Amino acid sequence: MVGLISEYTQLRRSGKNWMGLCPFHSEKTGSFSVDAEDKLFHCFGCGVGGSMFSFVGLAENLPAFSDQVRFLGKRCGIEVPEDDGGYRETVPREKIREANKEAARFFFSSLTSSSEALGYLKKRELGMPLVRHFGIGYAPAGWDTLYKHMKHQGFDDDVLFASSLCRKNEKGLYDYFRNRLMFPIFDESGDNIVAFGGRIIGDGKPKYLNSTDTPVYTKSRVLFGMNFARKNCTESLILCEGYMDTVALHGAGFNNAVASCGTALTSEQARLMKKHTKKVYICYDADEAGQTNAQKAFEILNNAGLECSLVKVYGAKDPDEFIKKSGADAFRKLIENSVSRFDFEYGRIVAGVNMSDPDQKIKAADRIAVVLSKINGVVERDIYTRRAAEKMGITYEGLKNDVVRIIRNRDKSEAKQQNREIIMSTLGYGDRINSEAVGSRMAASPEEAIIGILGLHPELIAEAADGDVGLKPDDFVTTLNRRVFESMNELRSDFKISFIGDRFSQDEISRITGCIEARRFLSSNGTEEIKQCVRKVREYRSERELSLDDLLRQKREKDKKGERQ
Ligand code: UTP
Ligand code: MN
Repeated sequence: MVGLISEYTQLRRSGKNWMGLCPFHSEKTGSFSVDAEDKLFHCFGCGVGGSMFSFVGLAENLPAFSDQVRFLGKRCGIEVPEDDGGYRETVPREKIREANKEAARFFFSSLTSSSEALGYLKKRELGMPLVRHFGIGYAPAGWDTLYKHMKHQGFDDDVLFASSLCRKNEKGLYDYFRNRLMFPIFDESGDNIVAFGGRIIGDGKPKYLNSTDTPVYTKSRVLFGMNFARKNCTESLILCEGYMDTVALHGAGFNNAVASCGTALTSEQARLMKKHTKKVYICYDADEAGQTNAQKAFEILNNAGLECSLVKVYGAKDPDEFIKKSGADAFRKLIENSVSRFDFEYGRIVAGVNMSDPDQKIKAADRIAVVLSKINGVVERDIYTRRAAEKMGITYEGLKNDVVRIIRNRDKSEAKQQNREIIMSTLGYGDRINSEAVGSRMAASPEEAIIGILGLHPELIAEAADGDVGLKPDDFVTTLNRRVFESMNELRSDFKISFIGDRFSQDEISRITGCIEARRFLSSNGTEEIKQCVRKVREYRSERELSLDDLLRQKREKDKKGERQ
């Protein structure tokens, strides 16, 4: 569990637990705790928590329990049957992978028999070894050349449609990729082709066409070239914008290049990189769009805990063109001269600022201070503050004070926000998870203690239910806690949060985990405490029923009076 979660946030050992920054809300001091023994995580800041399944559910956006199980199963090589738990896919993933493989074969053989495509390869200076290495092919210009071939190979329409190789109209299926140079996109392992990117031969729109998301492909989670790069990235990865850039870099010996294709860089792709390396060179196009994207990439990569710097190509529009013009050695020099995030952002801010105009200078200094405030390392921040002050010709102390003020204000507002959330939830205001707790706090609190103790010590469940306490589901006032106890009573000493992931929503799982974690460091977690809590809940119930009786009696008396009058 620690290994899994470490891919998303850095964990430090702290006694029996592991602690780190919560991956699900923004914070500066770690409130996120992982109990490797009980296999539970819990954030004391935002309240999320649960088992490994809940974790991947949140982190990988897989709300369905069956998908969480499948995701973890895949990671550890356990085959999870597709029809498990009533979950059925219309088209098996395996069939889609097979179709992609066959299509890639077809595209490759079409390439070698098309003089137009071979001519294009020549124009783009793509040699046959590189073409073979990447499995590059050609999708012919007709409307159904691939379709016919695939049908001949025995693939059904629903597979061809689900794989994004074909589209549908009134007349039937037709090829999605036509007259395009085809780049297969492999999964991380390199064992499967999950999608394609196709570049139009010559001019035409769109220039690139990418497979849509399919059951085997989620764009935001895949990087083109990662299947090769992961074997060559102990030092670093090079992130570029396009298919052609990646291919050209590999061709020039930079076999650690990858690209996000058909989307802007996502945090999931950043985490994928973090799994394999510590350092990323961002090498985007030289134009304004490329540089704006680079700024966003810095933010996303830094947030994923990756060190990064920017490689700027000169005299060419992108890395592909640069390599072809200037060669591999020149590119190696560009890498050596890569700039830090700060130097990059500094350059963008001061570009076009007239430093002899005090107004402009002050505005620029303010923006620089904001950039500096985002550097987390104290030493690093100080070095850059000194450097920036010197470059701008302002005092180091003045700039430093500005930076400190920005950081302090931000910390304050973050803390305020957290406090507000904690107070609201303690008061039970807006409890969207257990809405009945709001009006029944006096019952909900002891109920939560019972759930917490039994969750922590499932071996006590049998005793609580069958012993002299005689705890029954109907003792619970709030529906959520009653449902939790029903599950506990069913599973008894086998109870684990991970076993109830299909019966409760993630918010509910977080709440249950919170109840358990709230008890963990208390000493009174035995049958005695359970007894007291059960008594409190029963008292609450009888008082409430009593007061209901009272109300009824009063009403009856009133009615009688009315009859007499
Ligand atoms: P570019 O327009 O910079 O293409 O798009 P390029 O890499 O220079 O292509 P060549 O050299 O002209 O062949 C960069 C990336 O943006 C995505 C593709 O992933 C492409 O590689 N893109 C671009 C699309 O998805 N669709 C488009 O129409 C254009
Ligand atoms: Mn290009």
